[in-house]
Amino acid sequence: GKDGYRHYMEKELHEHPVVIGQTLQRLIDPATRRVVLPDLPFDLASVPRAVITACGSAFYAGMIGRYWLESVARIPVDIDVASEMRYRDPPLTPGGMGLLISQSGETADTLAALRGMRAHRQHIVSVLNVEQSTIARESDVVLGTAAGPEISVASTKAFTAQLSVLACLAIAAGRRRGVVSPDQEQALVASLLDLPSRAGEVFDQADAIRRMAAVIAGARDVLYLGRGSSFPVALEGALKLKEVSYIHAEAYAAGEMKHGPISLIDQTVPIVATAPSGRLFEKTLSNLQEARARGGRLLVFTDTQGAERLRGIAEIVVAIPTVDEFTAPVLQTIPVQMLAYEVALLKGTDVDQPRNLAKSVTVE
Ligand code: M6R
Repeated sequence: GKDGYRHYMEKELHEHPVVIGQTLQRLIDPATRRVVLPDLPFDLASVPRAVITACGSAFYAGMIGRYWLESVARIPVDIDVASEMRYRDPPLTPGGMGLLISQSGETADTLAALRGMRAHRQHIVSVLNVEQSTIARESDVVLGTAAGPEISVASTKAFTAQLSVLACLAIAAGRRRGVVSPDQEQALVASLLDLPSRAGEVFDQADAIRRMAAVIAGARDVLYLGRGSSFPVALEGALKLKEVSYIHAEAYAAGEMKHGPISLIDQTVPIVATAPSGRLFEKTLSNLQEARARGGRLLVFTDTQGAERLRGIAEIVVAIPTVDEFTAPVLQTIPVQMLAYEVALLKGTDVDQPRNLAKSVTVE
């Protein structure tokens, strides 16, 4: 049941902290605080390349996984949505890693992409929530997410669980490839293990998120922005808003604004930005100042450190706990999903069963 929540989506949003913790518990040895993956039928030290594919939210999790595999493990990565990947027929060196991500394990396009990769002799690693599924049966290795059943058509907790697995995979690969030292591994693992309690604190921001929702609910179009690993968070936010509130939303890499979308900006098109403190913060900030100068209403998700710089620039600032840059996208996803839920409530849509959508897409 819904445990007293109004919708499964609300219940599942509140499960983020637990689900992240349970997923990490499967992959991190509490004694050594090192990542321990199941046995792989190939060596992460010598894998030439990873090809990531998935659909929808799982694809956005994969985009964050790409940032981590590239920056932490120094593995070359290609990524595409499964509906494109299955027909692209990219040249693949045998022995590469095909990385599939799916909550249900039944998505038709993801399964077809898997079979294509298998035909090109890739090792198939799947990040799945339903471990008794078709994709599971056709994979060499399944890395399970411990999200539990996800009923809401709009995916929420499965996403942060997928990120938890992908982060561990990147750390393990980095260690194996000699680019993550034992000290670095300890620091990265510590930042992951800190996530469940930090995630719990995100819900303290519910009132500020509702204020944002009131602005969004009156809009016809919304622009989501982010840079680096916050760009997929923006994509996830825009998808979730479209799904449950039926408001048109688009996500852009913040640096792409001046290449076109900035022409959309006026007071009627609110801008939702994800801008945690860190390497790219100042860059995003200057993009936001450009948008404001053109009359844009800025609603910004940041952390307590970034908030100081944003007050005075943004109309509404939601500051969640400051965490390591590595884990920031995991935490920043939660308020962005909460926002979509709050807007759906204001719009009175069928939150758990949005029109035209199915929980698992088993046809092409
Ligand atoms: O079961 P899967 O993870 O393979 O599903 C992929 C997408 O269909 C799914 O993430 C979809 O985009 C959700 N409705 C997003 O909220």
